[in-house]
Amino acid sequence: MRIQLTDVTISYEDSGALLPASQPTILFIHGYPLSRELWKPQMSDLAGSARLLSPDLRGFGESGATPGPYSMELLADDCIAFLDQLGVVQPVIICGLSMGGYIAFALFRKYPMRVGGLILAATRAAGDSLEAKTNRDKAIVLAEKEGVEAIVRLMLPKMLASRTYTSRHELVEHVRSILLSASVPGITGVLAGMRDRPDSTSLLSQIEVPTLLIFGEEDQFALQPEVEAIRHSIRGAKLHWIPDAGHLPNLEQPAIFNSLVQEYLATFTKHR
Ligand code: MLT
Repeated sequence: MRIQLTDVTISYEDSGALLPASQPTILFIHGYPLSRELWKPQMSDLAGSARLLSPDLRGFGESGATPGPYSMELLADDCIAFLDQLGVVQPVIICGLSMGGYIAFALFRKYPMRVGGLILAATRAAGDSLEAKTNRDKAIVLAEKEGVEAIVRLMLPKMLASRTYTSRHELVEHVRSILLSASVPGITGVLAGMRDRPDSTSLLSQIEVPTLLIFGEEDQFALQPEVEAIRHSIRGAKLHWIPDAGHLPNLEQPAIFNSLVQEYLATFTKHR
């Protein structure tokens, strides 16, 4: 399905608006440099429990691309324009993976009334260090000079758990094909946006919605002490580490990921 926002076309999947109004809506926000394909195992298995929406962010998957930079706030604005166009005005659960988590923080900062719950996967609250900012600039130059394939060569070896690389070739190739669907403006746009994103650490104590944190035990981007600090700062947050998963726990271990979401949804619905 496609929807036209002011300056860009967004492709998305919607599991259906026909569930009873008492059922929550989950907005899935993918990470970098991925697409809504990331959420396939959730879109198929969780459809009976909530309305599930998964857009391709601008510059990724089948959505249109515009010249960058794409700040996390711009991408949060896109999410709200997308929800508005679908007539979803009640608060939704935001499920963001990695950069999707940065966008979830931007949504919480700018549109707190639209956020009814948070599922944060493989993400960070801190902003980029100076070294990380320099690496973003290098990656921008690489993408501009050598294209999407060079970024895929850089990113693919960092995304998954060691056992996934050695024994699950189909999954590795699937992730490669998702990464290859990104566009150069999308890649450079969000690299600049992530480089300049604000530190969200001070926001954490203001989060009062039910929050579930899910991380892969072998995530190369999210380090344990930092993740524990996020859990301590968000009141009542529940944290789960998934074994044999790296940066994409929902794809590498979908059964575990989905059962955690189901459990979360059960308490979420009870407490509404
Ligand atoms: C992501 O998966 O979205 C990225 O690894 C986030 C980042 O580079 O900070």
